[in-house]
Amino acid sequence: MSIRLKMLLSFTSMFLISLLFILLTASLYTIAATGDLQSFRDIYKVHYQVNPLTEQGESIFQEMKFLAKNDPDALQNKVLLREYDMKLRAEKSGLYVRREDSQIFESLTFHQPELKQALPAYDLNNYQIRSTFNISERFYAYAKFDFQYSDGKRGSVFVIRERSPFAELTRKLLPMMSLLLIGVLIIANLLLFRWITRSFIKPLHQLRNSAEQIKEGNLAFKLELSSNDEVGQLSGAFESMRNQLQQSNELRQQDEANRKELISNISHDLRTPLTNIKGYIEGIRDGVASTPEKMETYVNIIHSKAVSMDKLVDELFLYSKLDLNQEPFLFKVVDIVDFLEDSIEELRYDLEDKQVAFDWDNQATGPVMASVDLDKLKRTVVNVVDNALKYMDNENKRLGITLQADLEWITMVFKDNGRGIPEEALPHVFERFYRAEQSRNSSTGGSGLGLAIARQIIDGHGGFIWANSKPNIGTTIYIQLKRLTNEETGNGNG
Ligand SMILES: Nc1ncnc2c1ncn2[C@@H]1O[C@H](COP(=O)(O)OP(=O)(O)OP(=O)(O)O)[C@@H](O)[C@H]1O
Ligand SMILES: [Mg+2]
Repeated sequence: MSIRLKMLLSFTSMFLISLLFILLTASLYTIAATGDLQSFRDIYKVHYQVNPLTEQGESIFQEMKFLAKNDPDALQNKVLLREYDMKLRAEKSGLYVRREDSQIFESLTFHQPELKQALPAYDLNNYQIRSTFNISERFYAYAKFDFQYSDGKRGSVFVIRERSPFAELTRKLLPMMSLLLIGVLIIANLLLFRWITRSFIKPLHQLRNSAEQIKEGNLAFKLELSSNDEVGQLSGAFESMRNQLQQSNELRQQDEANRKELISNISHDLRTPLTNIKGYIEGIRDGVASTPEKMETYVNIIHSKAVSMDKLVDELFLYSKLDLNQEPFLFKVVDIVDFLEDSIEELRYDLEDKQVAFDWDNQATGPVMASVDLDKLKRTVVNVVDNALKYMDNENKRLGITLQADLEWITMVFKDNGRGIPEEALPHVFERFYRAEQSRNSSTGGSGLGLAIARQIIDGHGGFIWANSKPNIGTTIYIQLKRLTNEETGNGNG
């Protein structure tokens, strides 16, 4: 059974129960107003509306009517009239007989001085023989018959019954009130039903549709959140699940694309030196290297290609191990000032060889301690300095290394005045295989892994590495590491 149907049933049963209550209340009220169940049943009978008298009262009235037609003068006989009145009293009714304007008989039941004025005028045609009147708050119904006495004087006979104004009110208002109540009930039920189904069924339908879409692999849609209630929360959770799925899907596709690109890059970078090696070996085999000098040249080229291949494979291996988090970091607390000075010492020969003017500026006072993997950090510095030297093809080459430190961070700055990196290339230089000049020409040497490895290593230290560059002015690489406080250093040493 669907929820909609269940709700429809529950609303209907609520409606029926309310209806039952209304009917019950109405009947209790009517019984209270009219006195008994019998009269409640009678209150809406046609008889009651047309003829306000009881059956017994009615038959007495008919008798008197007959008398008025056939023996009108008998209706002056007080003894007879009193007899009729006695019978009528049992029916809670009374008798009133009029001759011209004077009263022949008035039942004691009424005690109403205004009765005479309240009664309708004489009407021989007897057009309206049943009606009602009221004297102040009391409500009466009557049946009357107009006739002529034998002497031609006008006479009227009334059988009057007092009716409870409460019952009269009930009779008039109850159907209207009940209808109104039932109407309100129906409308309220319908509105509630609509409201609930809207806030409940519609989002559920949406959820089902979304789930089906996801099943079919379509994740690129957005679930509209319509409310804040439980269903809305469910939709929210569903939407965030869809979002996550979509993101991981995109990530997977991205990874897939990366993997393909990686394989193609590796194949390309390995093929170039391999082709060279093959070519020179074929040259030797075919006797092109005829002299010992030529042979030596060939062998040297083959060797250098093999070395560069070895370096590439080595870099690739390191990069992929770092990427897979399979390269362990051996952290040691060291003074970065010492570390940089050692590194510079090792670089000095290279710098002199390439005629690069060199600045070392230590702006920190005292030791600046950090927890680092020495070999890997050295590799990073070598990669960065390598680049600076490699991409410096101008006169007046200049490399500056600066150490800055505040209480929290240590910053190493490597500033060269080389060719710089084009603006559009700058955001990508830390990506693997990325090279600013895209032609993968091995004459510039690099495979585009140096800075990618550097970033992996600095990430592994919880630090940051970034670059600033202006074409033809120079490039600055920043490496930032977390500085250890004195306390931490103590712990690190102990
Ligand atoms: N100091 C620099 N001056 C100018 N360009 C630079 C500098 N450092 C990096 N680049 C640019 O960034 C690219 C990426 O550098 P990265 O060190 O990752 O690769 P590579 O030097 O080409 O190859 P590898 O370092 O693997 O031998 C370089 O190809 C180069 O275009
Ligand atoms: Mg490099």
